[in-house]
Amino acid sequence: MLKKLLVDVHTHVYLPRYADLLRSRSAVPRIIPAAAGSTDSKPSERLLILDHEPSGGRPVGPQYWSRDEKLGFMDKHGIDVSIVSSANPWLDFLPAPDASDIAIKLNDDLEEYCSSSPIISDQHIKRLYGFGMLPLVPGISTSALLDSVQQISLLPHLKGLIMGTRGVGKGLDDEALDPVWEAIEKEKLVVFLHPHYGVDSNAWGEKENGHVLPLALGFPFETTVATTRLILAGVLDKFPDLRLLLAHSGGALTQLSSRLASCIHHDPLVASRLKHDARYYIGRLYYDAVSYGSEELQFVADAIGRSDKYHSSSADAGCILPGSQRMMFGTDHPFFPPLSGEIKWRSVVENLEAIQTVSGWSQEQKDGVEGGNALKLFNLVQ
Ligand code: URA
Ligand code: ZN
Repeated sequence: MLKKLLVDVHTHVYLPRYADLLRSRSAVPRIIPAAAGSTDSKPSERLLILDHEPSGGRPVGPQYWSRDEKLGFMDKHGIDVSIVSSANPWLDFLPAPDASDIAIKLNDDLEEYCSSSPIISDQHIKRLYGFGMLPLVPGISTSALLDSVQQISLLPHLKGLIMGTRGVGKGLDDEALDPVWEAIEKEKLVVFLHPHYGVDSNAWGEKENGHVLPLALGFPFETTVATTRLILAGVLDKFPDLRLLLAHSGGALTQLSSRLASCIHHDPLVASRLKHDARYYIGRLYYDAVSYGSEELQFVADAIGRSDKYHSSSADAGCILPGSQRMMFGTDHPFFPPLSGEIKWRSVVENLEAIQTVSGWSQEQKDGVEGGNALKLFNLVQ
């Protein structure tokens, strides 16, 4: 029998070419040398990617760009396969021609990073696959975006693409993106939807709370809003086979989905645009399992699993699959490293423990979330 695999669908890299781009910049996002007399145990550079980055940025080192470090991290945690994506803020800050040019190079770099990774011999699959990226910036032409989708679809180790929430400047409910969704759907690529901007920082008040409010709440709320707008624009009706994987278990989307359905019901303009109850679309999406708690995972799976009850045709009701089949283990490496000398990363151990202790899941469901579901989604099953 083939060994069961642990697959990480939420794991990032700043490819060396991208890290060099950040080093060459004089404005955020950028990488700067560590201050002289730095108290870090090892001298490191610092990463500034947010406008109000706490305390002069985060220390960054080879774990952000080195492939050996990625494989070492995977070995340490028993992760067999990673689907690696570039980390935020991708190309959002570049003018269109520069974004287009570097997207092509970074997609080629990521293909090389993955294709030259070790093979898992008895399973005939590699240890690394990737999400490419599109030059999604204001002013980009549709043909440049379609060329980029085409490039990714032809690179054998890229199985999808990572996308932020801004689209080409107006968000993901912009009709200008319709040809892009269509091409992505046709090429059967998975879109990994990931936040970067959070929400209006005025909501965070004046107390110094470090990265806690923007990362714990801002990031997932951003994903919640972007996905909701996409649903309300009818994107999932127009492109029913589009496969979207939501970061951080979709934020608050599942928790708010019945409230969303009720608000839509009471707003005839929006209701008339959609084919189904909002809760149906919740079950059409895929979710990482980066929630850090078993109750949250169970809740998300239950909200996904009731989706077919809300299909507009009653004939479809009753074929409800366990929601866990749409959920997948992730680490968010190299973010959230251990603060003291732990060998295993707490962020990883917590997410694995959460999966293993969901009281309503069978061992088969847990195994699916740890690897089997991802192997199916990314078509890596032999
Ligand atoms: N996780 C990410 O993916 N990006 C960040 O900037 C922080 C945490
Ligand atoms: Zn992430």
